[in-house]
Amino acid sequence: MDRANAPVGVFDSGVGGLSVLREIRARLPREGLLYLADSGNVPYGEKSPDFIRERCRSIASFLLDQGAKALVLACNTATAVGIAELRERYPQVPLIGMEPAVKPAARATRSGVVGVLATTGTLKSAKFAALLDRFASDVRVVTQPCPGLVECVEAGELASAATRELLAGYVQALLAQGCDTVILGCTHYPFLKPLLADMLPEEITLIDTGAAVARHLEDVLAARGLLADAGAGVSFWSTGDPARLSNILSTLWGEAAPVRFHAG
Ligand code: SIN
Repeated sequence: MDRANAPVGVFDSGVGGLSVLREIRARLPREGLLYLADSGNVPYGEKSPDFIRERCRSIASFLLDQGAKALVLACNTATAVGIAELRERYPQVPLIGMEPAVKPAARATRSGVVGVLATTGTLKSAKFAALLDRFASDVRVVTQPCPGLVECVEAGELASAATRELLAGYVQALLAQGCDTVILGCTHYPFLKPLLADMLPEEITLIDTGAAVARHLEDVLAARGLLADAGAGVSFWSTGDPARLSNILSTLWGEAAPVRFHAG
């Protein structure tokens, strides 16, 4: 296979990265895709930076062994903590990560207060602090760690009473501080948009980065002459129970698909 028609490797701590994979599929339907859910180790949000970096090294090495031409870290926590080391380790490989969309949020806010929903790992990272220094000097940024929310999405509980209650508490904390713009800083949270639509007043702007990441991937591949022209499928792996991921794919990906186990 020529390099351009090699697949793009995408990974996340679990199913959250499927929200990014959907955007990539919609924008770049000719790209073959490999998706690895590190479900045996989810969630990353409260884990140590060393642990997350080790997971990034191990998964990147696996996806590259499968022939990936580029990697997308479809996980804010993994990007915040692990992408710098991967860039050093694989200088030739296009690496695309996630980051909370502080720049567009700072432009969008009218109240001057921006809220960020993310994991503790993302919010505590040096990368997030640098992002605020760079783009948020003229606005107030209120951060809200969301323990438990990733687990709700992993369990497929996108609209249960327990998920609603947990999410409502986090959202209220932001609204109470005058936020009119809310950033979804974790790839699991876009799956909670229907619930968020119920609980956010109409004037609140919600900012998600999946589509921007797909556009960025397209730009990076195009710049390196790596856009595929052959068309190809999507392969799924999980480091947890493959049957569990396979079941939830019909809800989060739109169709069930076979999932292979990777001991990771
Ligand atoms: C997690 O596994 O805790 C969340 C992953 C993310 O930050 O996108």
